[in-house]
Amino acid sequence: MELSARSGLWAFAFFCHVGILVSSESFTLKGSDSPVIATVGTDVILPCQLSARTDAKQMEVRWHSSEIPGLTHHYVNGQDAPQKQNSHYRGRTELFKEELPNGNVSLLLKKVQVADGGSYVCFVGNKLNYLEGLVELKVGAVGTGPTISVHRSQDQAVTLTCSSEGWYPEPAILWTDRHGQRQNSTMSSVKDVQGLHNIHSHMDVKDNKNQVLVCQLQSNFWDQTRQSALQLSSDLFPYDKHPYVVTTVILCLSLVILGVVTGFIFKTERESKGKLQIAKGM
Ligand SMILES: *[C@@H]1O[C@H](CO)[C@@H](O)[C@H](O)[C@H]1NC(C)=O
Ligand SMILES: *[C@@H]1O[C@H](CO)[C@@H](O)[C@H](O)[C@H]1NC(C)=O
Repeated sequence: MELSARSGLWAFAFFCHVGILVSSESFTLKGSDSPVIATVGTDVILPCQLSARTDAKQMEVRWHSSEIPGLTHHYVNGQDAPQKQNSHYRGRTELFKEELPNGNVSLLLKKVQVADGGSYVCFVGNKLNYLEGLVELKVGAVGTGPTISVHRSQDQAVTLTCSSEGWYPEPAILWTDRHGQRQNSTMSSVKDVQGLHNIHSHMDVKDNKNQVLVCQLQSNFWDQTRQSALQLSSDLFPYDKHPYVVTTVILCLSLVILGVVTGFIFKTERESKGKLQIAKGM
């Protein structure tokens, strides 16, 4: 690993800084036991803390991501060193400089993206040893309240389309009637450049009967549901009365967008994955 390549340098430093070695040989480092959860576009702090308020100002601090090569953030010789930072993170990371003397090497990650999700390791080293702390970052986004549109083809078939944009991870989508009965539908999902899912679900309507149809998107990740309901109008099925009078009929629909957001509750009992790891050797 890259780290071991530095061992020679550190060995050299070892002989120069014996005093520091002795005084700071037994600190520990703690990331986060539970995952850090962030919404796309917001700023988030990835926690990492040295024990006993060990001063980290003169230590080397590296943040790595399991998903993105290179460094997330690099601090060495008392300053930030962006040379080895992956450009994905350029301009989006900061250490809290005023917190370094307290051993707080937490990372501020700005404007979180889908691609930022994953495991992070904060690495803190002095001349003698180094430590790793783990933080898992989970990233998500809740999409727009769904909209329902109506299409009628040449052969009079009526299709409802439920659309919602900007989800991560992909939500489940389902149609129900007024009795809560599930309806058959076909779903298509497209990822945009940011990795967010734009969802479309199509449902064929066979008859009228003043149906109420509900389109519901559910995200397990966010414990959140968004839904819209549509009251079908009998005008939608003109062929019942006037066969073949079709294309110019304006669809009269009472579109009731409930846009109900039920709960925006983060699961708090997520499994802890952050762990303290004391790595030795070089
Ligand atoms: C580290 O500093 C940040 C920014 O001031 C703060 O939010 C966080 O709580 C600190 N961590 C600890 C363990 O004190
Ligand atoms: C839904 O699809 C299944 C399988 O394709 C089919 O057996 C069932 O009859 C359909 N239900 C309705 C109400 O169309």
